[in-house]
Amino acid sequence: MCRTTGFKMALVYILFSLILGMSTALPQDMSGKMLVFPQETNTDHVRLTTSRQDLGAVTVCMRYFTDLTRSFTLFGLATPSHNNAFHIFKMPVSHEINVDIRNFPMTFRGQDYQINKWQSLCGTWESGSGLVQLWLDGKPSAMKLGGNLHISGTILIVLGQDQDSYGGSFDKARCFTGMITDVHMWDYILSPHHIDNYSQKFNFPTGNVLDWNSIEFQTRGSVLIQKKQPTC
Ligand SMILES: *[C@@H]1O[C@H](CO)[C@@H](O)[C@H](O)[C@H]1NC(C)=O
Repeated sequence: MCRTTGFKMALVYILFSLILGMSTALPQDMSGKMLVFPQETNTDHVRLTTSRQDLGAVTVCMRYFTDLTRSFTLFGLATPSHNNAFHIFKMPVSHEINVDIRNFPMTFRGQDYQINKWQSLCGTWESGSGLVQLWLDGKPSAMKLGGNLHISGTILIVLGQDQDSYGGSFDKARCFTGMITDVHMWDYILSPHHIDNYSQKFNFPTGNVLDWNSIEFQTRGSVLIQKKQPTC
């Protein structure tokens, strides 16, 4: 009897570690590398993992290269209650980029969005003031009121597709194609000096929520990891 229980326990343990082993992505050092999204689909994407479940402030920075002139999602952070909990979205109108905080949209106008050029993008929000700001190639936007409530719940971050529901309802017409690199996320507002340094590739504190030098992610479909190009 004792032996049977022991055997069963061992079996359960082995099965459990197999399941865990398959679903746990180990952090990867992506420095010097970029993600390539080479085709329009409603499936190809990257899921970034964080164990954080409550955010009172966010800074997200990334670099991208694309030739898209239509609308698409640049960065999508969803929680079960808000599919656009922290969401950066290129609008169909040129030079308009939206940021949503807990599904509340704000439009930032007049910034110099360009195709066929590496651009650096940072978005900040802080619950104390409620203010949101967008930085494109190190240039700040006007500040807008985005709300004071925390982002809470199990966080799911997707690159390459627009989450119309938590982790799904993707639409090919809003997918991203091109390249993305240097994704960092902080749970505080990065100072303007640090954002300026990020955009110029000088020193900045690496993200404490997402750190491109040690980042957990899974790719789905044809998303390729390639060496960064010199212009990046
Ligand atoms: C910006 O980068 C420069 C050069 O790497 C560094 O000397 C400076 O301390 C950085 N600024 C901040 C605010 O970290």
